[in-house]
Amino acid sequence: MSSTNTPSTPSASVSESRAMSSTAPVSAASPLPLRAKVPPAQPMKRHDPQDADSPVVLTFFEKATCTWQYIIYDPKSLEAVIVDSVLDYDPPSGAVTTKTADGLLSYIEENGLKIKKILETHAHADHLTAAQYLKQQLGGDVSVGIGQRIGQVQKTFAPVYGYDDPAVFENTFDHYFKDDETFKLGDLSCQVVHLPGHTPDHVGYVIGKAIFTGDSIFNPDVGSARCDFPGGNAQDLFASMQRLLSYPADYRLFVGHDYPVDRDTLCSTTVGEQRESNKHVKVGTEEDSFVEWRRTRDAVLGAPRLLHPSLQVNIRAGKLPPADDKGRVWFKTPAKTELKL
Ligand SMILES: [Fe+2]
Repeated sequence: MSSTNTPSTPSASVSESRAMSSTAPVSAASPLPLRAKVPPAQPMKRHDPQDADSPVVLTFFEKATCTWQYIIYDPKSLEAVIVDSVLDYDPPSGAVTTKTADGLLSYIEENGLKIKKILETHAHADHLTAAQYLKQQLGGDVSVGIGQRIGQVQKTFAPVYGYDDPAVFENTFDHYFKDDETFKLGDLSCQVVHLPGHTPDHVGYVIGKAIFTGDSIFNPDVGSARCDFPGGNAQDLFASMQRLLSYPADYRLFVGHDYPVDRDTLCSTTVGEQRESNKHVKVGTEEDSFVEWRRTRDAVLGAPRLLHPSLQVNIRAGKLPPADDKGRVWFKTPAKTELKL
């Protein structure tokens, strides 16, 4: 399914800032410099429209976090959206960089695409979103959108990370999608569908016969995503997977991540293929057996490597934590301990 093309690797890392943590004290944050011109990222695959109602789908795999980023456009108008972009972060050094996002921006410029929206499927816990950086660089009236239940996720994690002032959530996301809300992408119609389970805010985007599922389903040999984050629920995920499997068999399900073991990286399969062979939920799978298996599995999973920086940034639409009075930016890692030292 996927070609052997790999994204370009620009030599210069630009727009770098450093975030402080208990292990990586570094220099003060400074205003973002203008973006340096980098070579365009190369899509791993281009999916041509399946019919007149479907978009062109360009797939960009971010290797460090195994994340699929998508640029989706209407071939007539070249109006486009970006789904689930990645901001680069290196925990040992604290460096937050934009090489991946800059590659997307160069591709967009070189191909004359008109980005209208930057979309998130959910508040990711395993990578930082580049949504805010992309919005800043693209300018104009580009909006950052997410499902309306992000408020629930913000409420859960605000006290965890010391976001005690509600003002830190003002002017973060530009649009909160209601269930089944629709919007236009050129001549194409897009529908937002609520797909809870992995997280409570999770949505998918349906554009013609292309569905961007985020982490509501994975490729058939990977199966399903964990449901143990606050507000996650295996029963809800089962229902969301059933909803996805109820679309016509030739619809394509573009997933949020891929974790290949002994095959090439894969961005999508059809609903029909998923119905037949999804490892965790396929035709005939009983809800109770999936829920029991999922809960048992989740109980032994460790925390994602980038959990804390991801959530601190992603519940604020990709904005870094506010700088302190000395201009320093910190990521917080809550300590779990009974010690009184
Ligand atoms: Fe996720």
